[in-house]
Amino acid sequence: MSPDRSTVEQQQGTSDGELRQSAGENGASGPSTLSVTDNRTGKSYELPIEDGTLRATDLRQIKVDPDEFGLMSYDPAYMNTASCRSAITYIDGDAGILQHRGYPIEQLCEHSSYLEVAYLLINGKLPTQAELTDWVDEITIHTFVHENVKDFMQGFRYDANPMGMLVASVGALSTFYPDANKIKEERVRAIQIIRLLAKMPTLAAFAFRHNMGQPYVYPDNDLEYAGNFLGMMYKMTELKYRPDPRLARALDVLFILHADHEQNASTSAVRSVGSTQVDPYSAVAAGVAALYGPLHGGANEQALRMLKRIETVENIPAFLEGVKAGNERLMGFGHRVYKNYDPRARIIRKYLDDVFEVRGKSPLLDVATELEKRALDDEYFTSRKLYPNVDFYSGLIYEALGLPVAMFPVMFAIGRTSGWIAQWKELVEDPEQKIARPRQIYTGDRDLDYVPIEQRG
Ligand code: SDX
Repeated sequence: MSPDRSTVEQQQGTSDGELRQSAGENGASGPSTLSVTDNRTGKSYELPIEDGTLRATDLRQIKVDPDEFGLMSYDPAYMNTASCRSAITYIDGDAGILQHRGYPIEQLCEHSSYLEVAYLLINGKLPTQAELTDWVDEITIHTFVHENVKDFMQGFRYDANPMGMLVASVGALSTFYPDANKIKEERVRAIQIIRLLAKMPTLAAFAFRHNMGQPYVYPDNDLEYAGNFLGMMYKMTELKYRPDPRLARALDVLFILHADHEQNASTSAVRSVGSTQVDPYSAVAAGVAALYGPLHGGANEQALRMLKRIETVENIPAFLEGVKAGNERLMGFGHRVYKNYDPRARIIRKYLDDVFEVRGKSPLLDVATELEKRALDDEYFTSRKLYPNVDFYSGLIYEALGLPVAMFPVMFAIGRTSGWIAQWKELVEDPEQKIARPRQIYTGDRDLDYVPIEQRG
């Protein structure tokens, strides 16, 4: 490309190195193409710009030798690569905006419910009352899992990590619904979607009860989604579990806040695995596995462990010096997309008070609040645009709900199931999508002769 990136930015008035095709925006008025010259050959090319992107395959025509493969784009960790077209979630990382099917997350948390948001994500519109009633009823009657699934889960070690149990159990569901791989049939897709939404809390609660050494509790179809989950988690000998409505509401909002987040690592895993036309249980199991990582869904667990290690406000300065020295990361801070405050963190911070009112205030809240304040006053963090993300405060709520930290990523997975499903459905219905198969830059040896073992040094 003849103009270097800075020249292009000056021409288009873009910031942060983003190349945006913006006819009329930022003063751009020329044709939606990029003129590039390959200085190796002197040849010039006109590459179309569409939706602020270049098609990577348009680079293939740029060659020195006609027989060569042609240019590829190289983008480790996909820092600047769009993998799909999606209408599900919009994020403006600079402005700290998150919208689902166009509705701001703040309004959905205030007015909606998790199952209604799940309907919105998956079906692309807010349901009528009749549609919502049918949707909730269908999910309610599918909350049980086959007894063999329970037997399978009871085979884990007594102290098995619940996230590891969830990865395996979600994948195991595919063996109970063998017709789920008929993914091109809309009717087949529909029932698997209902089953996944309905059974994820059941599997999660079973994993928790397993960890506690307590008998598994079956779903109670008289309870709403979040309240039923609390019942399966905490019901003991009482005949009827009655969830505190404030806790159930706070949990329902947490599920909404974790519902979807465009092409994050776990959703990317679901799409990549789903692109092979495997059943949705196997694709979602891949998402659960990706979410398990400490840089992704495991961050809420790591953030709370970090707050416990800091323990007091007095220890914050020394801790932050350790972070700046590169000894560790400030877990729950930073984001690939948000270069501003994660709107979800702001909402969670608000619901903390409701949960603390019922369960008592965590002494770690003062540590978290002061840690956030000190970090946001520190050039090291602000220069890197590191702000609290969804995981910074969520652990405090989960701890107040009585959850062990190992269950925190599991809570994230319950909420994200609706987003994984919506993204998987959009993938399956997208005529442009096919099996995901990236290329590589080969750096290894070539054409070696085999060395017999007795001749190896
Ligand atoms: C989620 O993608 C999504 O949408 C994810 C998610 C979702 O809903 O699906 O929002 C959920 O995963 C939220 C993120 C949870 N993870 C954490 O809180 C873990 C701590 N944060 C990070 O490790 C990090 O910020 C990431 C992984 C979230 C983002 O990493 P990037 O975009 O790859 O940034 P980077 O690692 O290249 O860091 C850029 C710089 C580096 O410093 P320099 O090398 O330039 O000197 O910022 C530093 C990093 O060292 N940095 C941090 C930091 N995060 C980045 N330094 C200290 N503490 C941190 N948390």
